[in-house]
Amino acid sequence: MAKLHLRFVCQACGAVTPKWAGRCESCGEWNTIAEEPQGSGPLPAARPGARLALLPLAGEAEPPARLATGIAELDRVLGGGLVAASAVLVGGDPGIGKSTLLLQAAASLARGGESVLYVSGEEAADQIRLRARRLGLETAPLRLASAIDVRAIAATLESERPGLVVIDSIQTMWMEGVESAPGTVTQVRASAFELIRLAKSRGFCLILVGHVTKEGSLAGPRVLEHMVDAVLHFEGDRGHQFRILRGVKNRFGATDEIGVFEMTGQGLAEVPNPSALFLAERRGHVAGNAVFAGLEGTRPVLLEVQALLAANRSGGAPRRSVLGWDGARLSMLLAVLEARCGLALAGSDVFLNVAGGLRIVEPAADLAVAAALVSAATGQPAHAGTVYFGEIGLSGEVRQVPQAELRLKEAQKLGFERAVLPRRVARGSGGLLPAGLALEEIGHLSDLTREMGVK
Ligand code: TYD
Ligand code: MG
Repeated sequence: MAKLHLRFVCQACGAVTPKWAGRCESCGEWNTIAEEPQGSGPLPAARPGARLALLPLAGEAEPPARLATGIAELDRVLGGGLVAASAVLVGGDPGIGKSTLLLQAAASLARGGESVLYVSGEEAADQIRLRARRLGLETAPLRLASAIDVRAIAATLESERPGLVVIDSIQTMWMEGVESAPGTVTQVRASAFELIRLAKSRGFCLILVGHVTKEGSLAGPRVLEHMVDAVLHFEGDRGHQFRILRGVKNRFGATDEIGVFEMTGQGLAEVPNPSALFLAERRGHVAGNAVFAGLEGTRPVLLEVQALLAANRSGGAPRRSVLGWDGARLSMLLAVLEARCGLALAGSDVFLNVAGGLRIVEPAADLAVAAALVSAATGQPAHAGTVYFGEIGLSGEVRQVPQAELRLKEAQKLGFERAVLPRRVARGSGGLLPAGLALEEIGHLSDLTREMGVK
């Protein structure tokens, strides 16, 4: 028998080195290099390859067949449902609700007549049954297995011919003949490769659950993200009941869509109108708050931005504490407020929070963040019926942002009366703006600070 040689594999990126090192040279992560036995590579070719069939670029292209899960917030993120013969990776922190979401989706498809197999390597059948009972799904004709052996799963697929297979989680799967422990990058890659190959050849939808490490990357196998057709992240603050499902890669749809859920005693409930939920606990007339008319994918979402300023008594550098927004962007805004509008906040501790636990990535939030900061600085509440959106440049100019019309319609729908926004938006969108809303177009950040009482 051939002697097994040891090699060292980065558990984050899969790079192979002959020696152990504290830091992976390839991806720069620390403490990710682990020892794994050699011998899991491809076998030498036994026959020459067959010639490929070459095709012209022009030709019929059918839209992919989709399986709608019936959970609208999930289907939207997927681009209209699960695509047959494709693999989706659902990542998220432990305890965020991945198993709950997928059990609900699997049960919904099973009830709709689809053949569904749910394989858990993490929980015993009894635990999953308990969860199903709690969710009121115990009568769904779903087939369940508690297993980690990929070859046994493959053998089961032969006779069961499912339309959907859920693997919870890929980190627990184990492939016989691969000389590494479950959870190592070699095992995860080999198991995922085999399961994806089966999904492609047999035409079923495959959902893989993947854990996320403390640092926020999908645990170990970043390689997995390349192997699957879609990657969804399930996020949220465990202290909040909101959960956001975000598409980060999708070969069959857009990636900027989100699905919003609420964790309840009976599982995840869809939130078709997130703005109302995010604004539900808002208290009017508090200095430091401003409402941002944002966009998540194709959907407008109104969010409250909250700012708090405190005198820095530590004598050290002032604190900048940001939740739900980009810290560098906050520093830039503080500098612009000081240099262009004469509002000096550089010496204060600044705390910024997006209420509800959502993370804003759009630069369009600049104007709302600025309004919250100015209101915190003056102690005057921003007008409660106003929404803000607009990107701010380094010279203080307020720049255009996409989809003003959608943002304004949402604001009007939720009872707002006024919007502060970049110039020329009204004319640019051909008069389709909602009528009942007073529009205040501004060209420069100082228009806002002046209006809010900064001299
Ligand atoms: P789970 O789906 O097990 O998370 P993951 O698979 O991502 O690790 O959900 C775990 C949490 O959700 C757990 O702390 C309990 C809570 N939960 C509810 O609040 N309501 C429910 O109906 C269910 C099933 C779970
Ligand atoms: Mg789970």
